[in-house]
Parts: sequence; structure tokens; C-alpha cells
Amino acid sequence: MFVYKTIRELEEYVAFQRNNGKSIGLVPTMGALHAGHLSLVERSVADNDVTVVSVFVNPTQFNNPADLATYPRREEEDIRLLAGAGATVVFMPTVEEIYGTGELDKRERHEFSLGGVAEVMEGKMRPGHFQGVAEIVSRLFAMVRPHRAYFGEKDFQQIAVIREMVRTEGIDVEIVPCPIKRADDGLALSSRNALLSPEERAIAPEIYRVLSYSVGYSHDHSVQATHDTVVERLDSMPHLRVEYFEIVDARTLQPVEEWEESPWIVGCITVYCGKVRLIDNIAYRTPAAEK
Ligand code: PAJ
Repeated sequence: MFVYKTIRELEEYVAFQRNNGKSIGLVPTMGALHAGHLSLVERSVADNDVTVVSVFVNPTQFNNPADLATYPRREEEDIRLLAGAGATVVFMPTVEEIYGTGELDKRERHEFSLGGVAEVMEGKMRPGHFQGVAEIVSRLFAMVRPHRAYFGEKDFQQIAVIREMVRTEGIDVEIVPCPIKRADDGLALSSRNALLSPEERAIAPEIYRVLSYSVGYSHDHSVQATHDTVVERLDSMPHLRVEYFEIVDARTLQPVEEWEESPWIVGCITVYCGKVRLIDNIAYRTPAAEK
């Protein structure tokens, strides 16, 4: 496994592999890797000749400076885990390598047209977040020119936004969504889980427990009642405070009012557990072909 810090080394290596007819998979991450990230890497290793994993805490997608400052960083451990998962290349650039020295100049930034999928939920709560994600992911696509790129369904909205970005920018890459990996108690794995106190970590699995319960509940209750029961149950627990819970059409991410409105409906949630912002989602309805 190669560890590259510069764009030049990365581009040279992948160009050589591509010219030799090798298929290239890309797994973008922000590091502090866990089994969720590694499941994406393993999938890419199975599908492609070469797997490039980027580890870069991208400042332009953080709208909250405290979140950026406390974001966990574990480079040595990440390299060890990626070697074990069979990655071919780890790309670990500095902020300067990606964005140049000095101020990140807003005027030089490309404005991506990300459509309605970027305006709701995370887009509403975290202004500029998806522009920052599109910025880094499009740059990584341009450097690596992967045949396939792997993203986790834990960040359900992020996948929709990246699909829209790929469409509007005319990028030739297959986006491969991968299922959410959970701890044994149901909590969706996240780098931010490391920031939870023991009491918070003990209560956090309630998020998935309540979401799972609500799927059964949704079969004989309205969308509104299902929404309300999730929010009320979670808000009544110590340390937990729901920021938003939206029941949406999985393709457009726009809210639905009736279960009959769409064959594919997901509930997307953000919950503060103490000071840590956790996200999760669950499918309420899936198209027959998907079952
Ligand atoms: P990060 O949060 O590090 O996640 C990297 C990838 O791992 C994302 O595609 C995310 O959805 C996936 N992932 C995280 N937790 C997962 C879990 N429990 N199960 C399955 N997949 C999981 O998402 C980002 O970084 C950044 O926004 C990035 C795309 C790298 C751009 O900076």
C-alpha cells in the first residue's frame, strides 16, 4: 500500500494504472476510520483492481468551527486499518495541498448547482456544507478519475447530492451506495461516536431502536403520527434532543404527507446526544424490486 501526500504522486500512480487498463475505485473519507468506512473499502477492493482511499478532514464542508476543531484525527491507526482492508493507495494531503496557501478564497470557488436535494435537511441546517462536499469530491474525482466511487447510506442525503453534482458537472463515474454499518447495539458507526461520554454512548442506541420501532408503527399510523412518535420518544430521553426528523421521498428528499405518495420513503434524523450531532436514517417503504 502506498501513502501519498501530494496530488502529483497520486495522479501519476493512477494515470499509470488506468493506462494499463486497471479499474479504479475511490473511497473518500475524513479518517478516524471504523468498520463503516472499511466496509466501503472492502467493497471497492472486491470490485476494482486499484482502490484509492482519501483521508482528508475537509475544512470547507464544516460550517461550525468547533466541530472542525474537535473532529477526531488518527492518521497512523487509519493507515494500519487501510492496509488490513486491502487498499492500494491512501491519499492524505494537507489543507494547503488541496486548497493552496493562505485564505480559502471564496471567490475562486466554483458554485455547484445541486438542486432541491441539497436544500432540505442537512442543507438547511448546515449552510454551505454540501457546496464544500461537492468541492472536495469533485476535486478528488478530477485527480483520481475513478471508474467507481463508494459512499455510505448513513449519509443518505450526501449520496443524492453527489449524484446531482455528477449529473450537472457531466462526470463519468459510477456512484455505488453501501449499507449502513451499525454497532451490535444498533448505533450507526460514526467517527463522532468517539466524542460521546459513557452515559451518552449508553443512550445513543435509542435512536435506532426508536426508528426501528416506528417502521412497524407506520403500518397503521399516518406519516404525521409516525413522525411525532419518533420525536416525542427521543426527546423524552436524557441527553437526546432531535434537531430534525423528516419523512421524505427517497429520490427527491422532499417531505411526504401520505405513505401512498411514493414507493420509496425514508426517515432522516439528526439528534444531538449531549454536544455531539449524530445522524441516522431508516427505510419505511422500499420499491418491490428493491426488496
Ligand atoms: P466521512 O464521514 O468520513 O465518511 C466517509 C464515507 O463513509 C461516507 O460515504 C459515509 O457515508 C461512509 N460511512 C460513514 N459511516 C458509515 C457507516 N456507519 N456505515 C456505512 N458507511 C458509513 O462523508 C464524509 O466523510 C465526507 O463528507 C466526504 C464524502 C469524505 C467528503 O469530505
